[in-house]
Amino acid sequence: MCGIIGYTGEKEPKETLLQALKRLEYRGYDSAGIATLEGGDFRVYRCEGRLEGLEAKLKDEHLQSTIGIGHTRWATHGAPIERNAHPHRVGSVVLVHNGIVENYAHHKAKLEAAGRKIQSDTDSEIVAHLIDQKMAEGVAFVKAVQLVLPTLEGSYAFVIMSTTEPNTIVAARNGSPLLIGIGEKEMYCASDVQAILSWTNKVVYLEDKQMAVCTPSRYEILDAAGVPVKSEVKQIKWTADELGKVGYAHFMLKEIHEQPRALTNTIEGNINHSDEIIAIKDLGLFRKNLKAINRVSIVACGTSLHAGLLGKYYIEQFSRLPVEVDYASEFRYRNPILERDNLCIFISQSGETLDTLAAMREAKSRGVPCLAICNVRDSTLAREADATIYTNAGPEIGVASTKAFTAQTAVLYMLAVEMGHIHASLFKTQYQELTREIVRTPFLMEKVLGLEESIKKAAAEYQDFRCFFYVGRGIYYPVALEGALKLKEITYLHAEGYPAGELKHGPIALISEDVVTFVLAPQASSNPPNNPTTSRVYYDKLMANLEEVKARNGKIIAVGTENDSRLAERADVFWALPSAGWAINPMLLSIPVQLFAYHVALNLGTDVDKPRNLAKSVTVE
Ligand code: F6R
Repeated sequence: MCGIIGYTGEKEPKETLLQALKRLEYRGYDSAGIATLEGGDFRVYRCEGRLEGLEAKLKDEHLQSTIGIGHTRWATHGAPIERNAHPHRVGSVVLVHNGIVENYAHHKAKLEAAGRKIQSDTDSEIVAHLIDQKMAEGVAFVKAVQLVLPTLEGSYAFVIMSTTEPNTIVAARNGSPLLIGIGEKEMYCASDVQAILSWTNKVVYLEDKQMAVCTPSRYEILDAAGVPVKSEVKQIKWTADELGKVGYAHFMLKEIHEQPRALTNTIEGNINHSDEIIAIKDLGLFRKNLKAINRVSIVACGTSLHAGLLGKYYIEQFSRLPVEVDYASEFRYRNPILERDNLCIFISQSGETLDTLAAMREAKSRGVPCLAICNVRDSTLAREADATIYTNAGPEIGVASTKAFTAQTAVLYMLAVEMGHIHASLFKTQYQELTREIVRTPFLMEKVLGLEESIKKAAAEYQDFRCFFYVGRGIYYPVALEGALKLKEITYLHAEGYPAGELKHGPIALISEDVVTFVLAPQASSNPPNNPTTSRVYYDKLMANLEEVKARNGKIIAVGTENDSRLAERADVFWALPSAGWAINPMLLSIPVQLFAYHVALNLGTDVDKPRNLAKSVTVE
């Protein structure tokens, strides 16, 4: 939710700020702006809409500055119009903000009573006024920021400049991500590391309530009382090359195709090949908590929640521990029943989703061991969790999550197998077979990607339908939810995921010849341990549900397993997956539903990587 960047150094910052904003645009893209400081005054450029508008505005501008800040917005307070775009300049101060200042109305009333004119509808401008007001009373820039911050309620990351200190950028964080990038005679402040990776891979992550004061040659981190604190400089392993599209039309398509590699990178290092056993290296000493637990809560949002639902099947089947799955936004406020011998697992691609972070803080405050599954190293979730298992999927830039989902699923699979081993609920032959199956999955995914041409054709055929159901049973049901989410978020078509058995309890009323039902019905080469008939029963019941749809003239796109002529004959479109076990099939099924959504979106001409109203990192509640 909003991307922010700051630069102070020796180069003219226009191109740097714009390039960084391009990398941050996934965080919000309804307006954008930059401000620089030259000759003792600010130059502020803002534009409604996408970054291209700002680029066009700046094309012929010759800036003489060596310092600047920038912002790409996802509107919370105030419509996405130029007046509400950041940076907000007030007197001797200009700032950009990510987050929500919840008590802004209270401050606004006092500022107006003091005769200040507020130009925008944002909470952010109020903070610029508060700092400027302090400075007008004679307080120095850094001190003024330090005095204002404790008066703010809510979440924020700020990057601020002042005409009084023309080389200095002040950054401050509480609840929204912010880091300092350390270059050669230059410093950066950014919402995430991708923004600055072209120039430096050395970063310091700010903690909540910390401030940073940056000049080209040094930075200092201060705590809430203004006392300098030590900070660890981290070296980032991602490279700037990983952030490009490398020939793909969209990041989403690239990321779909990257899944075999993302899965390999996530799995490798966690398999002891000689004993054919999974031992997740990131678990380290946290592993001892797994022995004592008797119940698991999985908490996440959106696509990560769908991975969590798959995790429920894995953990319950492999370790026989009860698992509940919660939306993070619900978990926090429902006073969940948590005991010290429970395990809470928080899943997040970005590691910055505020709902998930808040839920984890709630669980931690109750003394429950908290494990994160996360894709972004040293993100807030990863740093605050008791332990983090990383999905090594590489940077995910398309707003619609794809490779992070299958990588999260692979981690949950491995974790469940390891828990099954620890809780002695799997025989040796069973966990060895499960280990072999996950190792083979990236190769199977390569095969599934070969379906793309046929998926493209179907996308062209069905793009004008307006209503889609996705149905599956058992472990395929979370993929139905994920398929529907993918379609609706990037095509804006109406799509719903259901357990197939639920169709007849209401939704079937909608089925007609202009409704498409995606039936996720692979056969399984193996069954859940101790449950040898499950897959067969699910398949047979799904076939019955498919007949119910057909009887009402509904169109059917089916994803099944190769050589399944029964399903192929009944479906209008049939895609065959290679044969795999019940627990691997969800990862394979994900690819056709992602590709279908992608190609429909492409045909409809929506903005695939930056769908309307969405942002990749949701740092507001
Ligand atoms: C959907 C999507 C979102 C995210 C959700 C959680 O494609 O990307 O639903 O999954 O906002 O984000 P993370 O995983 O970063 O916590």
